[in-house]
Amino acid sequence: MEDPIGGYPTRAEQLDILVSAADAVLQPGDTLLDLGCGTGYLAHLLFERRGDVRFVGLDRKGESLQAARDRFGERVRFEEADLSDIGAVEVAGGPFTVIATALTFHDLDDAAKRSVIAWAAERLAPGGVFLLYDRLRLTAPATFPLQQAIWGRIERIHGRPMRAAGSFAEYEADLSESNRPARLDDYIRWFTELGLEHQILHLHGNVALIAAAKGETTP
Ligand SMILES: C[S@@+](CC[C@H](N)C(=O)[O-])C[C@H]1O[C@@H](n2cnc3c(N)ncnc32)[C@H](O)[C@@H]1O
Repeated sequence: MEDPIGGYPTRAEQLDILVSAADAVLQPGDTLLDLGCGTGYLAHLLFERRGDVRFVGLDRKGESLQAARDRFGERVRFEEADLSDIGAVEVAGGPFTVIATALTFHDLDDAAKRSVIAWAAERLAPGGVFLLYDRLRLTAPATFPLQQAIWGRIERIHGRPMRAAGSFAEYEADLSESNRPARLDDYIRWFTELGLEHQILHLHGNVALIAAAKGETTP
């Protein structure tokens, strides 16, 4: 399966690290739940490595889900759900050893992001992990030229650009309902408030892969 999102030259490496992390914790028969699964590219990457695990994907787009069902058939469950109304989302098959989300959180407002993390924490199996891969919000105009240098380097090495901006003001003007990444500080605060231990597994400029798990003392 080809990556349906071609615009992120660093995505292959970051998704490979996400799948490696999932692979490390999934036991045979365990399930990975993907929040914002799209057409199922993460399922494809997981099944390339593991044939002994299950996959459940949630997304709000019926046509993406249908494409995923057509591709993977009965072995995988793809269900319609709106993450912005996570309180109403019921999903069978939990608790889950891995709950992952890839390039989806920037579509949610910050209150919904925090609610989805709390919802996921309640559905993690003992020893399970939450893996969040998404853009982070840039907040420092003084260091913005350094981010531009990273974008320039990515384009030079990969021959393709990432979503970039010519100035910090232009970057901020590009923020919208479908492009509202959270600040790293906010993610760390939410994980801490929710009793989740967390670690940045990979950070490339403004794109992060963060892992969170219940600590031993988390209720
Ligand atoms: C950029 S795509 C990423 C798809 C997939 N995770 C991947 O990496 O290939 C973002 C996905 O998030 C889904 N999405 C965005 N907001 C959502 C919401 N409120 N509830 C459920 N899915 C949502 C979109 O429908 C889309 O499939």
